Amino acid sequence: MHNQWSNRLVFVLAAAGSAVGLGNIWKFPYITGEYGGGAFVLVYLACIALIGLPVMMAEILLGRRMRLSPINAMAKAASEASAPGGWALVGWMGVLTGFLILSFYSVVAGWAIAYTVQAASGDFAGLTGESSGAAFGALVGSPEQVLLWHTVFMLMTGVVVAKGVRGGLERLVSWLMPMLFAMLVFLVGYAVAEGDFARGVRYLFNVNFDAVFWQTNAEGVRTFTVEPLLAAMGHAFFTLSLGMGAIMVYGSYMPKQASIGSSVLMIGVADTLVALLAGLAIFPLVFANGLEPSAGPGLVFVSLPIAFGNMTGGVVFGTLFFLLLVFAAWTSAISLIEPAVAWLVENQNFSRHKATAWVAGIAWLLGISSGLSFNILPADTFSIAGMSIFDFKDYLTSNILLPLGGMLIALFVGWVVSRQFSESELSLRNPAVFSAWWFAIRYIAPTGVALVMLHKLGWL
Ligand code: TRP
Repeated sequence: MHNQWSNRLVFVLAAAGSAVGLGNIWKFPYITGEYGGGAFVLVYLACIALIGLPVMMAEILLGRRMRLSPINAMAKAASEASAPGGWALVGWMGVLTGFLILSFYSVVAGWAIAYTVQAASGDFAGLTGESSGAAFGALVGSPEQVLLWHTVFMLMTGVVVAKGVRGGLERLVSWLMPMLFAMLVFLVGYAVAEGDFARGVRYLFNVNFDAVFWQTNAEGVRTFTVEPLLAAMGHAFFTLSLGMGAIMVYGSYMPKQASIGSSVLMIGVADTLVALLAGLAIFPLVFANGLEPSAGPGLVFVSLPIAFGNMTGGVVFGTLFFLLLVFAAWTSAISLIEPAVAWLVENQNFSRHKATAWVAGIAWLLGISSGLSFNILPADTFSIAGMSIFDFKDYLTSNILLPLGGMLIALFVGWVVSRQFSESELSLRNPAVFSAWWFAIRYIAPTGVALVMLHKLGWL
């Protein structure tokens, strides 16, 4: 009943468009900064390869086999396997997670729109580490500004989703992703020339497990901390758009004859490359300008404008960069609500327009509280579990809901549906690749997530 992607390349672009987003350019550098660099990056890469890519294959194969929104795909696959209908809850949890993510994602994407305008107006000229930090503070400190741009971004997202798979999503991603990539390469070039490149590289790739995983308290007692592991694993899910059905619903629009294995490889490589390039563009500037890698969510918004403000052609390049960042966020945001929209179309007989209006409207409402976290409702005024609303939503989704969803999908595909089900849908040419995937989906992914979570809960 839904449309399909025109061809495999479009599917890969759309899935890569979903994967590559604020997670790569905004979040990856700042959490790497918060968790101390190299060792965190290495664990993150391991999570991508061992857990992320196998789970992505599982999501796509389920979606394509069932050709339904994640909630109904899970329900139907469960009933075909004579398993409890409760598996559909994984789809419901995904819908909830999508709402929660979009409700803070849209706020950050809104900052990027505001920065596009500032860049174009020449506001970055002559920025220093200090004045750039102050400018960011002024933006996020203004509830009117933040809510205005949040609203603009949500409208943009709604318009594309309402237009549907072909007319909306496809057209947008096909030309934006390559441009973003080129822009990042250019910025890495700038970081080589003008930043402290050697220090940036060392920070990203110098693996020191001690510094990342062991905390020393005032008495000199060292304790192991699982928090960086949890964050790295959670981010692997976040950056690949896994664990909530976004990739599953994209898979449900995928042509039958296209290869799932090689598509996943391309998506994974593109996503990882963009994250690493973003790190290589940003950390050299952070160090060269006396900023702190652990600056938090403002890291990218403070460091890059300094570069643009001090290079020739910075107005053009700065505008282009933030514009592309908005586009990257845009192609990701649409995938966050597509599962909910597809379900409303399937089950409630909503038109795509009506379904989108509802879903984007709810996400917009939820997003207001995220936008206020930086001004009228900071953590010391209103907090959940010691975090601001924004941080809480981010933590809850990335570190808990996405890994949990991913683990359940892995268990479902690995243990509930038959091996034949996956084998025929993946139709991998090399049997060894299938065996490796099968092992990863049955054992590595579920136990990896479970171990980290149980340790976090203090049960291990
Ligand atoms: N992957 C996107 C990013 O890195 C965000 C995103 C889009 C996402 N769809 C998702 C995250 C689904 C989790 C689940 O910016």
